[in-house]
Amino acid sequence: MNVLQRRPLLIGNWKMNGSAELGAEMAAVLGEAMPELSAVDIVVSPPATLISVLIEGLRQTPVAVGAQNCHPEPAGAFTGEISAPLLKSAGCSYVIVGHSERRSLFAEDDALVADKCAAALTSGLVPVVCVGETLTQRKKGETESVIRQQIDAIIERLERPDLERIVVAYEPVWAIGTGVSASAEQAQPVHGLLRSRLADVCDSSGIRILYGGSMKPGNAAELLVMPDIDGGLIGGAALAAESFLGICRAAAELC
Ligand code: PGA
Repeated sequence: MNVLQRRPLLIGNWKMNGSAELGAEMAAVLGEAMPELSAVDIVVSPPATLISVLIEGLRQTPVAVGAQNCHPEPAGAFTGEISAPLLKSAGCSYVIVGHSERRSLFAEDDALVADKCAAALTSGLVPVVCVGETLTQRKKGETESVIRQQIDAIIERLERPDLERIVVAYEPVWAIGTGVSASAEQAQPVHGLLRSRLADVCDSSGIRILYGGSMKPGNAAELLVMPDIDGGLIGGAALAAESFLGICRAAAELC
């Protein structure tokens, strides 16, 4: 059909879920479906202890493996933390930074998210920078200012060529894990805002801006068909191989 302006990117974010068995199943199901998914980029982001399982299982496929977080420093006395170079050497290609759960539950602010983003780029990882407003902020009409502030922290921290290497994920906090996705009409203006803000400082035409928040096989196509929605960051629906595959297929059918 070829209605998409950029090659779609689908990232499964397992959060603190999953198992080696799920990793093996996901690798088998995605591996088998690969011929029909050649037009899309697919990433699985399991908990850190399962990264090696996924790397091994997906070795024969183009599916990449991502991490869910990294520390801004490359090494040091930070018990329990994992640096971007360690993730890179484990075989990761992507890392999620600034997920709303990290911002709200682990007190990560915009400056720390920007530092993590820079650390990821330095190590050769693609950072997937998450932004999004809460329901209260949306109701108060603050969506645009919240999104601007979050993306501006990244813009101020990175040099122009690096900015063009990031992936952005718009994840309205009220849509994450709730079963209530933003509608395409709600999401597109925020994606458009993100692209035009990035266009003020770099060439944003190739930057992929993903949507995240209750994306499922049943609503993926209507979101992905929007001009500035270039893929998905998928939580719950990425925990079953068939539903994650359903979303990847929906994207492939639009290519
Ligand atoms: P969800 O999570 O798909 O379960 O809403 C998305 C995310 O948190 O990345």
